Amino acid sequence: MANDGLADAKKAKNDEFYTQYKDIEKEMTAYVEFNKDVFRNKTVLLPCDDPEWSNFTKYFAQNFETLGLKKLISTSYAPNSKPADIPKQPTLFELESPQFDESKAVENGKIFTLSRDTSGDNRIDVEDLEWQYLEGDGDFQSEEIRKLRDEADIVITNPPFSLFRNFLSWITESKKEFVIIGNMNAITYKEVFALIKQNQLWLGNGFQSGNAYFSSPTTREYATGVFDATTGLVKFRNVAWFTNLDHGRRHMPLPLMSEADNIKFSKHKEVKGIGYKKYDNYDAIEVPFTDSIPSDYPGLMGVPISFLDKYSPEQFEILGITKTWNDESGLKTKIYPTQVQVSTDGKESQVGKLNDGAAIKVSSLPNSTYYKVGNESFIQVYARILIKHRSQEA
Ligand SMILES: C[S@@+](CC[C@H](N)C(=O)[O-])C[C@H]1O[C@@H](n2cnc3c(N)ncnc32)[C@H](O)[C@@H]1O
Repeated sequence: MANDGLADAKKAKNDEFYTQYKDIEKEMTAYVEFNKDVFRNKTVLLPCDDPEWSNFTKYFAQNFETLGLKKLISTSYAPNSKPADIPKQPTLFELESPQFDESKAVENGKIFTLSRDTSGDNRIDVEDLEWQYLEGDGDFQSEEIRKLRDEADIVITNPPFSLFRNFLSWITESKKEFVIIGNMNAITYKEVFALIKQNQLWLGNGFQSGNAYFSSPTTREYATGVFDATTGLVKFRNVAWFTNLDHGRRHMPLPLMSEADNIKFSKHKEVKGIGYKKYDNYDAIEVPFTDSIPSDYPGLMGVPISFLDKYSPEQFEILGITKTWNDESGLKTKIYPTQVQVSTDGKESQVGKLNDGAAIKVSSLPNSTYYKVGNESFIQVYARILIKHRSQEA
């Protein structure tokens, strides 16, 4: 399996990956540092989080008082609704609870709540979690969990990878605050990009270089370098937090060099001594790296989707994305007639793909896949976000 974890996990319908405590703590701290009352008097729902596994539940229960929470609700998915190779044996904690019920233990989800001191130690923490079986299996799309969503102020989780799109629409239709984990590529989904453009969703503080390490109860096969047997962690690339909670990094402008300085001093060989290529089908320049955005370019610029990790809405305006579904943005200047795709082995096929991206005209034939339209040759760059400097707006 290639190491683009979330997409592969999605294909394999393997959703059992658990977030590490330190990643949750680091992310939530970024929101608290920006607004110390972000969680104060709020009801937080963790809708895909078995507390016996979930560090989300542990984090919020443990920090209940420091964050000033009103109520914590954490629900989990029934063991029998999970894939066959996931351990189904109830934990000792469940077996020894007075409410243990053998049939419900596998068929029903569970709900854990925390809102008061039950242990009598005058503090509210993980010891005070109360639980019972849900009526159903805990599917976040069920009426039962929907009601909990509507009761909550903030919904936080690492949702099932195979259901990311459903989860996101479930949470955005509720108009609640949220912090969820997903694959960076979700930025190119029509519904996700629309929210980003309207400043209703952005990337959170983030994982180090987009690499996340999750634990898993299964022993499936992974490609070399993906699973670390010593830590038991599985590495996923391109992972991001998607949120509508504000944080400080989002308001820090990216330090940039002018176009002339980039050409003189850029650390990227694609830019140094070369400059920026113009697209053939958008009135924009290709900026292949976020740190190469020229500070003084007044027009439209195409940047990689990872730009969003550095995006400050005060510094830039997002105008569109180079996807066919975004053509209504009016930024595309040209639609190509039928094209011939020439792959690296020289094979030719008729395609319409060149229209689903930004194209750059090439004079000499590249070593990579390229496209022929009449006598002209083009390469297509990956999905690009089309941005402009705010300060340079007319
Ligand atoms: C990626 S894991 C993350 C678990 C936990 N949030 C964490 O980060 O540690 C997603 C969890 O969602 C559960 N799940 C899968 N489908 C679900 C559904 N339809 N409703 C609720 N939970 C579901 C999976 O069983 C899995 O435990």
